[in-house]
Amino acid sequence: MKPGVVVVLAFLVLVLRVSLSSASDDHRQKWWKWPSSSQAGKSICSSVVLPLYGNVYPQGYYYAQINVGYPPRPYFVDPDTGSDLTWLQCDAPCVHCTQAPHPYYRPNNDLVPCKDPLCASLHSGDHRCDDPDQCDYEVEYADGGSSLGVLVNDVSLLNLTNGVQIAPRLAIGCGYDQIPGPSYQPLDGVLGLGKGKTSIVSQLHSQGLIKNIVGHCFSSRGGGFLFFGDDVYDSSRVISTPMSRDYRKHYSPGYGEVIYGGKATGLKNLLVIFDSGSSYTYLSSQAYEGLLYLVRKELSGKPIREAVDDETLPFCWKGRRPFKSIKDVRKYFKPLALSFSSGWRSKTQFEIPLEGYLLISSRGSVCLGVLNGTEVGLQNFNIIGDISMQDKMVIYDNDKQTIGWLPANCDRLPSYDTISI
Ligand SMILES: *[C@@H]1O[C@H](CO)[C@@H](O)[C@H](O)[C@H]1NC(C)=O
Ligand SMILES: *[C@@H]1O[C@H](CO)[C@@H](O)[C@H](O)[C@H]1NC(C)=O
Repeated sequence: MKPGVVVVLAFLVLVLRVSLSSASDDHRQKWWKWPSSSQAGKSICSSVVLPLYGNVYPQGYYYAQINVGYPPRPYFVDPDTGSDLTWLQCDAPCVHCTQAPHPYYRPNNDLVPCKDPLCASLHSGDHRCDDPDQCDYEVEYADGGSSLGVLVNDVSLLNLTNGVQIAPRLAIGCGYDQIPGPSYQPLDGVLGLGKGKTSIVSQLHSQGLIKNIVGHCFSSRGGGFLFFGDDVYDSSRVISTPMSRDYRKHYSPGYGEVIYGGKATGLKNLLVIFDSGSSYTYLSSQAYEGLLYLVRKELSGKPIREAVDDETLPFCWKGRRPFKSIKDVRKYFKPLALSFSSGWRSKTQFEIPLEGYLLISSRGSVCLGVLNGTEVGLQNFNIIGDISMQDKMVIYDNDKQTIGWLPANCDRLPSYDTISI
């Protein structure tokens, strides 16, 4: 439920210094197979696929496992296209951490210096270096949650789809002071998949390991997969639209219009962001109220009424008998879509079937998975969350500057060679 859009705080005044264990691990890099320069050339056509776990409802989030450090340890992280920095709850020691599925990350002593461009990219405006040897960061999420910590370099173990195992050294946040937001998730950290320099996809790309492409496939039956690179989908089948040139901070196709039951609604000029860090979809209050009006109009006179006692989501409806699946409400609702202009006079539609904006609660009512963005402080942003991206591959192509999608069975991991080298 965490809208993952990140706000980087402009001024950081940190008094804490992180004490880091001084492990002697200089041999670390020789241990793991690094692609030689010839392999690196080949692996640019390769990809990384990570299985996903979790669901929109009832769990409320999807997560991936990453393996960090030497020896590598597993961590469960929230894949977030709405933010850049990957961070782990960190025993540095931890000032304030939340409950996590694994022991907190123990950082090595490989600090990212303050002058590093990766550090600068996390700070907007005037970037001061109070301590040149370390890069302090603070990220604040749209739901008010935050993480404060220091940037370290560490190895992450990844399998390329061509069978090569790599252990690139990546900058990640050692988060030793977290404030959970209202939609906090009991995970080890966040996997930043945004467009910024610190994002995992940008870092893997700048090391020549993959193309600058990231995507995900959330299954409505739970689980799915995440991928970096482009050899897991058929690009000829992808429907795509250019990323906005005006709004570059997040993955945004620019302004869209709500289509309901195949008809334009006049709910338009909505600045849309694709954000995997958000479980639900959010519309700014005017569009939200407009959609609610259309949905209610459609329901009037039908044997279905508002279930005020079901608090699963703000708006739920019940029928004569409890609903078991979306199939039971097909006759009451119409599909949604968002329409984007994707060039001179051409439009692209992001279709949202009933499963993409409704869910069946544990009490057997049908609930609206589109929420009021204005109420949670999203201002005029409209967020496409996980619920609306289910059963599609959604592809953020930073090379071509496009956002694309295609219907997919997200239950099946893309198959690839598993030749061990
Ligand atoms: C990589 O592949 C190996 C061998 O197939 C497997 O045992 C391991 O779990 C995989 N590691 C990751 C990080 O996916
Ligand atoms: C949406 O949120 C705004 C701001 O809190 C509020 O004024 C408006 O009434 C809300 N709309 C609905 C339908 O809940």
